[in-house]
Amino acid sequence: MVNNTRRDFLKQTALGTAAFLAYPPALVLGANDRVRVGMIGVGNRGQDLLDEVKAVPNVQVVAIADVYRGRFDEAKKVAPGILTFDDHRRLLDLKDVDAVIVASPLHTHARHFLDTLAAGKDLYAEKTMTWSIPEAEQCLAAARQSGRVVQIGLQWESSGALADARQWIKDGVVGKITQVESWMSRNTPHGQGQWVRPVPADCTAQNVNWSAFLNGRQDRPFDPFRLINWRLFWEFSGGNVTENMVHQIAWIMSALELPLPTAAYMSGGVFSEKDGREVPDTIAVTLDFPNDLVVTWQSTFSNRHYGLGEHILGSDGTIEHGWTGSDMVNGEEGESIRYYTEKVNRPRGAALVGKTKDQDHMGNWIDCVRTRKTPNASTEIGYRSAIAVHMANLAYRRRQRITLEEAKAIAPEF
Ligand SMILES: NC(=O)c1ccc[n+]([C@@H]2O[C@H](COP(=O)([O-])OP(=O)(O)OC[C@H]3O[C@@H](n4cnc5c(N)ncnc54)[C@H](O)[C@@H]3O)[C@@H](O)[C@H]2O)c1
Repeated sequence: MVNNTRRDFLKQTALGTAAFLAYPPALVLGANDRVRVGMIGVGNRGQDLLDEVKAVPNVQVVAIADVYRGRFDEAKKVAPGILTFDDHRRLLDLKDVDAVIVASPLHTHARHFLDTLAAGKDLYAEKTMTWSIPEAEQCLAAARQSGRVVQIGLQWESSGALADARQWIKDGVVGKITQVESWMSRNTPHGQGQWVRPVPADCTAQNVNWSAFLNGRQDRPFDPFRLINWRLFWEFSGGNVTENMVHQIAWIMSALELPLPTAAYMSGGVFSEKDGREVPDTIAVTLDFPNDLVVTWQSTFSNRHYGLGEHILGSDGTIEHGWTGSDMVNGEEGESIRYYTEKVNRPRGAALVGKTKDQDHMGNWIDCVRTRKTPNASTEIGYRSAIAVHMANLAYRRRQRITLEEAKAIAPEF
């Protein structure tokens, strides 16, 4: 790994200036005013979010920007009449866009985050908030300074299960928590790699703004496989810790009100998906937190028996949250959250079942655009969860324990 400094990294990526911009005054919308939305990145997730935002009352999707023009027709089927651009800056120039949803690949998140705030728009930014730690710091500073309403696409922050877990911990029925274990597991048919997507026939050099996709990464001839399968490569992705662990660590950090980890360890490798990908498919992460707490997260792509979930282990009780054999994003199978008493310390404690309903994460963002309140998944939790997952990846890539201070001093490698 190249031993650059953070300062060099900020210079290379030209993100250093955006945090010091003078931001336009905050939007003032009435409770009944229509919110006009633009979207940057309208691929797989972006099209789900387009459906979600269209379902929120009194919202109009005005425009989309995507480097791959094949997305335009797909989006127009859902939102006829929208404007389309292959450069996100043209969308941000539009005066009649109040708020922007970003669902682009990870290595472009910081660019789209900072540019959206600089254009004076509110923001819904997909997770992980950024590709690197220096970018996370830039985005946190910009969000604080800009006064914009920012929701991170960590939709578990709007879950009823989080409200239940917080309440039980606050009520003291869990006791002292020294350990949290968490995991997510997936599987695919033999010969079919997890995450691998076919390249559509119209995904050609003529149809793609390739330099905008590269976003400062080393220039090279058009490579449609990397455009479509960016998740498999470190220069665009952070692998499964930025794709999935981030949801669970954010949920755990919010439930337990955790600060940043003090150190990270991560082992694993490309053990099951030997298809040329760089990011590991088999992972064991350990995060140390202040005040006597260890959080672990495991993941595999070749066995889905235990689905995904978290166990919060306390001296007086256990919180068990999860989905069995399912996908947390789609929630295909039943989610549950339960509390079990530790009879040695709470002999008369009763078992509990969480019943709080989920909030609409997208609806919460649109409400906050009108009220200027802080959304459920603020930039602060976006930042803390981003730092945690990037610490894990740095530990993996360096094959060593990484402290918070070390992680903050390392410039990421493209
Ligand atoms: N919150 C969730 O549950 C959830 C679920 C899935 C994906 N995601 C996140 O959503 C994001 C997108 O994932 P995806 O699976 O939709 O990827 P995708 O590749 O299907 O979609 C990304 C889109 O962005 C476009 N794009 C690439 N570079 C761009 C640029 N510079 N400007 C504008 N558009 C650009 C691509 O052409 C593509 O259409 C990722 O950050 C991913 O982690 C979140």
